[in-house]
Amino acid sequence: MRALPAAETVVHLRSGGTSVVVDLQPGSVPAVVHWGDDLGDAPRETLVSLATASRLQRISGGLDRTVRHGIVTTAASGWAGTPSLEGHRDGEGVSAVLAVSDARASDDAIEVDLADSEAGLSARWELRVTASGLVRVRTSVRNDGPGAYTVQALHTTLPLPWEATEILDTTGRHLRERSAQRHELTFGTHLRESRRGRTGADATLLLAAGVPGFGFERGRVHGVHLAWSGNSRIFAERVPTGESFLGAGELYLPGEIRLAPGEEVTSPELLGSWGDGLDELAVRFHEEWRARPQHPARPRPITLNTWEAVYFDHRLPKLIALADAAAELGVERYVLDDGWFRHRRDDTAGLGDWYVDESVWPDGLHPIADHVVAKGMEFGLWFEPEMVNPDSDLARSHPDWILRGRAELPPSSRQQQVLNLAHPDAYAYMFRVISDILTTYPIAYVKWDHNRDLVDAAAGPGGAAHVHAQTLAVYRLIDQLKAAHPGLEIESCASGGARVDLGILDRTDRIWTSDCLDPVERLENQRYTGLVVPPEMMGMHLTTPHVHSTGRTVSLTLSGAVALFGHFGIEWDVTTLTDTDAAAVGDWVALAKRVRPLVATGRIVNADVADPGLDVRGVVAADAASAFFTLTQTQTLISSPTGRVRLPGLDPDRTYRIRIVTPGGIIETPAQSPLEWAHQDTVLTGRQLAVVGVRPPVQNPQQAVVIEVTAI
Ligand code: DGJ
Repeated sequence: MRALPAAETVVHLRSGGTSVVVDLQPGSVPAVVHWGDDLGDAPRETLVSLATASRLQRISGGLDRTVRHGIVTTAASGWAGTPSLEGHRDGEGVSAVLAVSDARASDDAIEVDLADSEAGLSARWELRVTASGLVRVRTSVRNDGPGAYTVQALHTTLPLPWEATEILDTTGRHLRERSAQRHELTFGTHLRESRRGRTGADATLLLAAGVPGFGFERGRVHGVHLAWSGNSRIFAERVPTGESFLGAGELYLPGEIRLAPGEEVTSPELLGSWGDGLDELAVRFHEEWRARPQHPARPRPITLNTWEAVYFDHRLPKLIALADAAAELGVERYVLDDGWFRHRRDDTAGLGDWYVDESVWPDGLHPIADHVVAKGMEFGLWFEPEMVNPDSDLARSHPDWILRGRAELPPSSRQQQVLNLAHPDAYAYMFRVISDILTTYPIAYVKWDHNRDLVDAAAGPGGAAHVHAQTLAVYRLIDQLKAAHPGLEIESCASGGARVDLGILDRTDRIWTSDCLDPVERLENQRYTGLVVPPEMMGMHLTTPHVHSTGRTVSLTLSGAVALFGHFGIEWDVTTLTDTDAAAVGDWVALAKRVRPLVATGRIVNADVADPGLDVRGVVAADAASAFFTLTQTQTLISSPTGRVRLPGLDPDRTYRIRIVTPGGIIETPAQSPLEWAHQDTVLTGRQLAVVGVRPPVQNPQQAVVIEVTAI
């Protein structure tokens, strides 16, 4: 980076089709004037004019100089919106007015140092535009004063176009994570907080704002994600001085961040993306994540997880039979879920005692692990390292390792409490016991679970809140285990999908997207999780036909089609299958193997469809030479046959052959004539597919077809 001379008051950063313009007007807090569409190789004088043209006039009833939305805002500067920084010195307010002390920039990044010597504070704001066009921003604050400074809030923000008046975020709960909700962005603040000590099933993965009615295919939209797995705040704000913005930061509990003189704290990264439609916004996140050196590169192994097949009923013959059946179906990874360690006969006891239960496994896990490996599959194992049951040897011998803010334990959840991993001895114990198991057995994969919120999580009675420290300790433990066991893959699970964020996903290899395996429910869950998470990092499994979490009975076709564009697996007692059913499941596994190279490298597309009962989504190869689409029907449609559906995202100028490749073929009842195009050679251009489309087959609810598209 080069130092910016005082005369250079406007910086234009460009990368990956994204521009960011920063106005460093002397005497004012710098401001991001624009982020989003590439503004091209704009002449310098036009950039200066652009910055000038964005400045605010004085207005009646306001300050003599209208304060704009800057990169690091404070109340003492006259900014009346949500400030970037708030804090105090032992209860005494601090008047902070941060002014630029230094700035550096390159073609795609900028760093601005700000300071207020009177307040004894300095800050650094860093922004970079990446090769995928994502904007990554973070802010650090240092205490330069003589006494301690308690940080109450540290937010990072990015401005919005004024026309972005509709916001989209997600909410949820166990078994229904990431349900979308839309609102008008009115004046004021739309704030989403997560105070669960983990990301949370109800936390929004993305906060997006766009022109009214923006969809997946079109409509200008900007969105931000906070890469953090602890408490968080994320908000959209519209202020009466003609500015609106998206912001986020870690939510600090009272007294949690107390900086001694010379200490500093850095915010989690805010990642911003934009696009004409949500698919374009999502692709930048996917490309960014895929470009990381640690991104799982090899084909995602077809996974069988034992949980819904046996729950806690661990018996070697049954688990061996499950492994045999799985191997026959083409499964490549077998994951032994909860129930293998000492005292864990149900969910009331044992968490913390990470030693193989000799009463259930007299020969250790060797018989099952060796059998799985001999069958050509990888062996995976479940852990829940941050948790402890009061009914465990660990809790009995180290009650002081349990997080609590008062003498009595916090309210329990699933009969469990949280282990203080920032305690050096607890951390060392946990690293040792997990590492020992990983060394003793041929374990390629860990399912890392986290089944309760952190409530009153302090390091002991009367101690300061501990969520920040706990989150960092978990990150450190994962990093250290991965470094000690090269090649180990880790799945982030938290009662299903309650810890889904790019902080955890920077150090793990996939998420368990939801405990709800019902494909009808999974459609929305996976679509909105996919706004940020690349599809190959989302666990998607075939369900037992009688879905455990919803009681609905679903067809294999529906289950298979919905699991196809992700990390495919099975959560089902496949020892119970008839030969015919096993052959059908095997066909889905084979199709998933054919589709997975595209899933791991291609672009996910979601068509904006007229009838809510029909879902059209696909994955298009990066070179647009091929694609797969699913047409999934969740309910009856208003018209029958229904109108054409478009298959977007292909190269408009290429010609493609399309054919239905659903295992089991297309279902046509005698009441309907055959779908003509599906029974002949059908070739269409990418433009025709995107603009005109094809008639979907007449289907009953819970049917689906898979369409393969190949350039000719
Ligand atoms: C919650 C997870 O989401 C499930 O998949 C399973 O691993 C159970 N925990 C085991 O206790």
